[in-house]
Amino acid sequence: MPIRTIIEPFRIKSVEPIRWTTRAQREKLLRDAHGNLFLLPADDVLIDLLTDSGTGAMSTYQWGAIMEGDESYAGSKSYNRFRDSIQDIFGYSHVIPTHQGRAAERILFNVMVKRGQIVPNNTHFDTTRANLEFVGGVAMDLVIAEGKQPSLKHPFKGNMDVAALETVIEREGRDKIPLVMLTVTNNSGGGQPVSMQNAKAVSAVCRKHGIPLYFDACRFAENAYFIKLREPGYENKTPKEIAQEMFRLGDGCTMSAKKDGMANIGGFLCTNDDILAQQEKDLLILTEGYPTYGGLAGRDLEAIAVGVQEAVDVDYLRYRIASTAYLGNHISERGVPIVQPPGGHAIYLDARAFVPHIPLEQFPGVALANELYLEGGIRSVEIGSLMFGKAAKMDLVRLAIPRRTYTQSHIDYVIEVILEVWRKRDQIRGLTLAYEPPFLRHFTARFEMPG
Ligand SMILES: Cc1ncc(COP(=O)(O)O)c(C=O)c1O
Repeated sequence: MPIRTIIEPFRIKSVEPIRWTTRAQREKLLRDAHGNLFLLPADDVLIDLLTDSGTGAMSTYQWGAIMEGDESYAGSKSYNRFRDSIQDIFGYSHVIPTHQGRAAERILFNVMVKRGQIVPNNTHFDTTRANLEFVGGVAMDLVIAEGKQPSLKHPFKGNMDVAALETVIEREGRDKIPLVMLTVTNNSGGGQPVSMQNAKAVSAVCRKHGIPLYFDACRFAENAYFIKLREPGYENKTPKEIAQEMFRLGDGCTMSAKKDGMANIGGFLCTNDDILAQQEKDLLILTEGYPTYGGLAGRDLEAIAVGVQEAVDVDYLRYRIASTAYLGNHISERGVPIVQPPGGHAIYLDARAFVPHIPLEQFPGVALANELYLEGGIRSVEIGSLMFGKAAKMDLVRLAIPRRTYTQSHIDYVIEVILEVWRKRDQIRGLTLAYEPPFLRHFTARFEMPG
């Protein structure tokens, strides 16, 4: 019999202790944080599944490369290595470093979008939507209908509704749509992948109308692995070949290297358009820095150059996708409602189904996330009515798995805590908002807390 257990494809060289608290301590801590898990000191969290962004562990090769960081202000060798490694996978002619993904988004939208113009996407991530709206653009989510039904199984729930895209372009006119975006994988829609066939269809529509297509490429490697697993014709291709094929369908991308760049900070903006690239670099200099560092240290560029290549390693991706599914399958087989099938970087609890007695105005996702913290010191994040307001199609609680950071026994603990909260779900109460800022309110919102 062949051995079937999938193990972490690494051993641990350096450890970071984590700290227990009692339930009474957590009740006070959550009150002090005004019921918003973002406002908790990280030290008071036992297992931090708030995000997979910048929270992963770097490899010995990345740490080695960091020592070679060239900190020259202009023309750094580290930039050349960064650019070459990215071009090897993404293939775009201009690679502009930024301090993280949202900086790439801000620059892209400032250069490409005018007030009142529409940008279709499968689902805009919160920073993408906010940056677009900040320049007066309209964010339009066109994910397929299956992508909005949490319990429905479909291999590519991140796909864009191509017919809806055509209709929007015909109705609004090409001039109203400066670019189309595809988010791979679709984070706000449950970390679900986009198929190559769908990306090809979207690309064909864009090409027909002369509209540029940009990828929000944060989790491009996980998306490529899902294509390898699920899309006929790709089983024998490497994740890197699949990613290269996908990026050839577009004109550029935004990227947060804190995800599939396997780095703790960084991002980039790519384009094939020389004129746009010049305008983007002009803006970059204004707020991020010179185009060969873009707000990053030379050592960060080195970590990303190595990281993007590690992200497409097939052994790593096999473990990554299997370990996320392990969490999802163990809770869903006990009845816990999750977005099906399990996503690449996270498991999403369906809060509307988990706590159906809590009305949307009382933030069922926030209430559930807070309960996971009170029960077991686990931090997660709401993606729903707090994050997106009335635009929210679902109320989800995302348990994002940092890359190469937690072991299977950590995940077994998480499973036990979720099942305990599931058993006591009728006792969970809704929340009332006490303060909200004008943008991205979930980061700093405060809730009324009893006692
Ligand atoms: C799909 C997607 N796009 C953009 C971003 C923004 O990236 P950053 O947090 O590096 O600004 C994120 C971050 O989580 C994301 O998941």
